[in-house]
Amino acid sequence: MSGHFQADWLALREPVDHQARSKALGQRLQAWCRPRRRLYVLDLGTGTGSNRRFLAPLLPADQHWTLVDHDPALLALATAEAGGHEWRGIHADLSEWHRFAAHPSPDLVTASALLDLVSADWLDSLVAACRERRAAALMVLSYDGQVEWSSPDPLDDAVLAAVNAHQQRDKGIGAALGPAASSQLAARFRDAGYHVWVESSPWDLGRENAGLAQALVEGWVAAACEQRPVGCSEFRAWGGRRCADLAAGRIRVRVGHQDLLALPGSGR
Ligand SMILES: C[S@@+](CC[C@H](N)C(=O)[O-])C[C@H]1O[C@@H](n2cnc3c(N)ncnc32)[C@H](O)[C@@H]1O
Repeated sequence: MSGHFQADWLALREPVDHQARSKALGQRLQAWCRPRRRLYVLDLGTGTGSNRRFLAPLLPADQHWTLVDHDPALLALATAEAGGHEWRGIHADLSEWHRFAAHPSPDLVTASALLDLVSADWLDSLVAACRERRAAALMVLSYDGQVEWSSPDPLDDAVLAAVNAHQQRDKGIGAALGPAASSQLAARFRDAGYHVWVESSPWDLGRENAGLAQALVEGWVAAACEQRPVGCSEFRAWGGRRCADLAAGRIRVRVGHQDLLALPGSGR
């Protein structure tokens, strides 16, 4: 829930992320890319490279990837396997646009599981950078604040309220927009003359991916305790109940995300 993530957590979520992503937006992006013989892609907050592993097979054969992350250990994992394409890894903070967005100029700016960490000012700079270059943007798996349990617990709402409030803390790029980020980005791209599509890409977690579900619940408990220390013992007890029920297959949880595709309009 901070701006720092473990490779183990990213590995747990990768197959579920790939399953959840909107296939319709992928096809729309593919059609936009089709006339291009070569595609320059900028992947922001690349982690170990999950977004590239999903997207590269969908895009035209000739690709050049710029992979940006402030965590050198994650970036080293992302760049260890080039995946048959040209690439460069850049160890930088996401606010340092001049270090990664100029040469080569991207045709596609993309990120997965990143948007809820960023601020309103950063969204402004993202839209400005895309508009200047007439680049497309695909920002997927942005947490939207909606969590639904198959069977309710009296503490669900209190935990969710604390987690969603925690989401809006500064994660290193200004006060984070948390669950509001995707809709705020959609509005900005529309104002900039882009065509915008938003699709939901929820996780549906149960016993078959209990490892991810339990790690998620543990992260929520830690965030809720930081946000509302007075409720911490109750939050921990809630986490224990939820993890036990998930592992036993007695409950499922649906975690809301949004995928957004923005394509430059013809008029600007
Ligand atoms: C939730 S992870 C997602 C990683 C990857 N895109 C994926 O889908 O598995 C967010 C990533 O953004 C990176 N990140 C967070 N804040 C950053 C910042 N200010 N500058 C650069 N990278 C940042 C983290 O190191 C992490 O790799």
